[in-house]
Amino acid sequence: MNLKLPQELDWRPRVFDSLSFPTLIMDCNGTVVSVNQKLLEKYHILKSRVIGKSCREIFRNLFDDPDLPCHQETCPLNKTIAEGVGHSVLRQIERQNGSKYWEDRVFSPILDDDGNVIYVIESIRDVTRTKALENILHDIRVFMNRLVQSSASAILSADRSGRILLMNEAAEELFGYNFDHTANISVVDLYPQGVAREIMKKLRDDDYGGRGKLPATHVNILTARGETVPVEMTGAIIYEGDNTETATMGIYNDIRERLALQDAQSQLDQSEKMASLGRLAAGVAHEINNPLTGILMYGNLMKEKMEPDHPLQTNITYILEDAERCREIVKNLLAYSRQSGTSQERFSMNVMVEESLRLIRDQSLFMNLTTKKELSDECMMVKADRNKMCQVVINLVMNAIDAMDPNGTLTLKTYRSNDQKRACLEITDTGFGIPDEDRLRIFDPFFTTKDPGKGTGLGLSTAYGIIKDNKGDIIIKETGPEGTTFLVELPLDTDSIELMSIG
Ligand SMILES: Nc1ncnc2c1ncn2[C@@H]1O[C@H](COP(=O)(O)OP(=O)(O)OP(=O)(O)O)[C@@H](O)[C@H]1O
Ligand SMILES: [Mg+2]
Repeated sequence: MNLKLPQELDWRPRVFDSLSFPTLIMDCNGTVVSVNQKLLEKYHILKSRVIGKSCREIFRNLFDDPDLPCHQETCPLNKTIAEGVGHSVLRQIERQNGSKYWEDRVFSPILDDDGNVIYVIESIRDVTRTKALENILHDIRVFMNRLVQSSASAILSADRSGRILLMNEAAEELFGYNFDHTANISVVDLYPQGVAREIMKKLRDDDYGGRGKLPATHVNILTARGETVPVEMTGAIIYEGDNTETATMGIYNDIRERLALQDAQSQLDQSEKMASLGRLAAGVAHEINNPLTGILMYGNLMKEKMEPDHPLQTNITYILEDAERCREIVKNLLAYSRQSGTSQERFSMNVMVEESLRLIRDQSLFMNLTTKKELSDECMMVKADRNKMCQVVINLVMNAIDAMDPNGTLTLKTYRSNDQKRACLEITDTGFGIPDEDRLRIFDPFFTTKDPGKGTGLGLSTAYGIIKDNKGDIIIKETGPEGTTFLVELPLDTDSIELMSIG
């Protein structure tokens, strides 16, 4: 049985036959009224075996369709007839030989002049290849997702407006956010002020790791827990086409542990260096001490024997003054090498700080300075060599003054350490800071950046020796172009704490 098409549709069977995929036309009862050449060729059947048959019969017998009988309500043919719009169904079909393929059956209505469905045209497209590509794509996506999620480094991506697009598990842990709750935060909020802009500037800079790339860089990040964490990050801009920036991505590694290790190592290096310099200093000091005693003794004897108006009086005075300076240096060297005797006394840290300030000979140095004293209200008793501790404070204060403009600010602050075991003193200036390359050398004997005659470079090394002798610590707590803070810590004298609490 052949479909009798109206006259004006006569050209359509030609189009129908030329379609490159199997196609059939059914009436509204599901009876096949026409099939195209491609369908006959593909399924090796005769037209007479399909025309007049129901679509169910055809699919069951000819196409091994396992889903038959199909359900009325899900049948795309019924839906197309009922709604007058096209529908499709995707099926995986197993051939008799066991191989599988995917078919996309697309049903389109043919309408009469009044818009009623009179026939339905069904095209059968083999989409096995597309489906296979889709599966590959899906697998790649799953794999990529696993790859990103399983990375030990934190990975984060954001769109151009800073909205977070991706956060792997390590990033959730590092930043302290759950990705599902990041709708209200911007990637800018994850850095201290100005850092995100700085990173974008470097990313766009051709000379900084190449366009769109940020090589390993140390930055601080801000976590949801309110911490500032130092990280090493690399970054990239993701482009669409050549120039359109669509997103940014960053890979982050927490470097707190690494920095702590480096710190411990450099402290170890520093104390080893101090120990060997100390031995050297002690040796030199002892060797110089004996001839120096001789020079001073015989010099003084000569001076006494000379008439007061003797022409060599001035020379011998200079010799004795210089020998005295040498003795002072030797004394300092011995203090640094911790070979000079110490006396132990119990005293209040605050009182000692006040006393040291009074002992500074040239009080005019403080004239234009702002001196802030933030001394702890708590009584902090320590047991140490009081005179030598004054010497330490005086040297730190003098260094601070030397580093500042005459109208700088000097701050002295005392407090107890969190563990209540140490008395702490911070001396802060608003000076020019200590350059990185000098930081490890300032405690070395004779290291000075001051003009000749202005500094011997023994102040900090002596202070170091004294503090170590008293079981304390002295470090640069902070330094930069805004100024420097030295921190001195001495063990609190717990005996006196107990005595005080009993009293
Ligand atoms: N507060 C500070 N700000 C900047 N630099 C400092 C500060 N304190 C110390 N320094 C640097 O450390 C160097 C060593 O200091 P140190 O006290 O040992 O010697 P000095 O002050 O140069 O000489 P001396 O103390 O023997 O008179 C100084 O020359 C200076 O470069
Ligand atoms: Mg000094």
